[in-house]
Amino acid sequence: MTSAKTPGHPARVLLLGGTSEIGLAILAALGAPPETEILLAGRDEAALEAAGKTLPYQIRTVRYDATETAGHEDFIRDVFAGGPVDVLISAAGVLIPQPTLDADPRQAAVLIDTNFTGHVTTLLAAAARMRAQGSGTIVVLSSVAAVRPRKANMVYGAAKAGLDAFARGLADSLHGSGVRVLLIRPGFVTGRMTAGMDPAPLATTPAAVGAAVAAALARDPGRDSRTVWVPQTLAGLAGAMRLVPRPAWRRMSR
Ligand SMILES: NC(=O)c1ccc[n+]([C@@H]2O[C@H](COP(=O)([O-])OP(=O)(O)OC[C@H]3O[C@@H](n4cnc5c(N)ncnc54)[C@H](OP(=O)(O)O)[C@@H]3O)[C@@H](O)[C@H]2O)c1
Repeated sequence: MTSAKTPGHPARVLLLGGTSEIGLAILAALGAPPETEILLAGRDEAALEAAGKTLPYQIRTVRYDATETAGHEDFIRDVFAGGPVDVLISAAGVLIPQPTLDADPRQAAVLIDTNFTGHVTTLLAAAARMRAQGSGTIVVLSSVAAVRPRKANMVYGAAKAGLDAFARGLADSLHGSGVRVLLIRPGFVTGRMTAGMDPAPLATTPAAVGAAVAAALARDPGRDSRTVWVPQTLAGLAGAMRLVPRPAWRRMSR
C-alpha cells in the first residue's frame, strides 16, 4: 500500500545506502509528511532499523548490496512492485585509503563496484521504471573528487568520475520523460566516511548537503536535471582545480 501524495512532497523514497549519513540528512531535511514511505536499502538490517528510528516517516528496510550487481534488476522490480518511487537517492559508497588499495588491489574492485558499477546497474533498472511511470527524481552522490584525479585518491576519484559521467548521460537520456537527475557534488564532508582525515578547504557537513538537496528537490517545477555543488562556492574552486598545471597537481600530497 503506498501513501497518498501531498503536493510538493514525495510519497515514496528509496535510499540506497540506507545508513548513509548524507542520505539520512537528505531525508531529515525533506520536511515531508509523516505518512511518507521511506525504504532504507542496505546490508545491515539492525543498522537500517536504528537509522529508521531517527526519521519521522513510515520506514521499511530492504536488503541491498551495491556489489551484487546480478541481483539489481530483481531488487528494483520488487521495490517498484510496491508502488511508484518518487525519489531515489543513490548514496552507497566506500572510501578506502589509497595505500590500502596499493597493498591489496582486490579492494579496488570492491571500491569501484560499490561507488560506480553498482550505481549503474541499479539506476539503469530504476530509470526504466521511472520512465514508465513518467515521473521521478534520481539523486546521485558524486563528489568534487570526480573533477580531477589525485594520486592520493586515484581509485575513488576514478570511480566518482565514472559515476558523474554516467549520471550526466542518464540525465540527458531521460530529458523530456518527466524524470530528472540531481547530480550532487559535495566537497569534503565531515562525518563517518572522512573520520580521522584533516578537513579540505570548503569542508561541509551532512546536514548542509541534506539541506541543499532538499532545496533542489523542492525547486524546479519544470523538473529539469541539474548539478548541485555543496557548498555552491566549490564550483569555482573546481574550475580552478582543472587549470592547475600537471607538475604542480602531481606534487599534491593529499
Ligand atoms: N563524506 C564525504 O566527504 C563525501 C563527499 C562527497 C561525496 N560523498 C559520497 O556520498 C555518499 C554517501 O556518503 P556518506 O558521507 O553518507 O558516507 P557513509 O555515512 O559512510 O555512508 C555510506 C553508505 O554506503 C553504504 N554501503 C557501503 N558499501 C555498500 C554496499 N556494498 N552495498 C550497499 N551499501 C553499501 C554504507 O552501508 P553500511 O552501513 O552497510 O556500510 C552506508 O550506508 C557516498 O557515495 C560518498 O562517496 C561523500
